[in-house]
Amino acid sequence: MDVKSPQNLTELTNVFRFVEKELNIKPDHVRNLAYYKKQFKVTPQFLIYIEKNREILGALLAIPQKNDNLLVGELAVSKKTQGKGIGSMLLNEIEKRAKKYDKNNILLGSLETAEKFYIKHNYKPMLFIQLKGPNKLNELKSFAIENSQENRITWESTDSEFSKIVIDTPNVDKILQYKANRLSGVHTQYLFSKKL
Ligand SMILES: CC(C)(COP(=O)(O)OP(=O)(O)OC[C@H]1O[C@@H](n2cnc3c(N)ncnc32)[C@H](O)[C@@H]1OP(=O)(O)O)[C@@H](O)C(=O)NCCC(=O)NCCS
Repeated sequence: MDVKSPQNLTELTNVFRFVEKELNIKPDHVRNLAYYKKQFKVTPQFLIYIEKNREILGALLAIPQKNDNLLVGELAVSKKTQGKGIGSMLLNEIEKRAKKYDKNNILLGSLETAEKFYIKHNYKPMLFIQLKGPNKLNELKSFAIENSQENRITWESTDSEFSKIVIDTPNVDKILQYKANRLSGVHTQYLFSKKL
């Protein structure tokens, strides 16, 4: 089984439809088919998939950023083939391609079900916390300082709609996430990164 990139827009559409179904992507998702069609014109090498007997088994769609980062937007393996190494093959291949094109840091937002998978692949976790509403950054920072002595705020941003921080955590700290989830108007997610 080889890892390959779509050769044309029909193949890309099939790959996206697979990912959309497996991850239950909604039509208003920022990275929709139109988004990946644009991406395909520029960096098709970062859109990869595996098929067997013309059936798609897994796909990984990544987007290079202006800096050193390659963002993994979507990764999905079909339910019946999960746990058989397909996800690892895709991740290993994208790391190889990232290095080749001088993208030396992989970044992604994980579903809760995949956190152990990324830890296994030596990815570093960070907790992303977002609060809805203006001027919530101080509330977020106080939370981080009170609840994570060893941890560090590595990124922050605020605008009229949302305030957001990222805390570097030594491991996937479910207690910290649970506490964060009690803040009002909150959304949390573990992000992962790996220096290549
Ligand atoms: C997460 C996912 C991409 C992993 O792909 P996969 O092909 O199932 O994973 P692999 O077979 O390559 O697994 C590699 C290792 O990670 C472990 N692993 C994979 N998924 C895991 C999970 N959900 N929980 C715990 N361990 C997991 C496997 O046990 C395996 O370890 P082993 O080599 O010691 O047996 C795939 O299971 C999937 O698509 N899940 C549903 C959607 C999803 O979560 N996508 C990720 C979005 S961020």
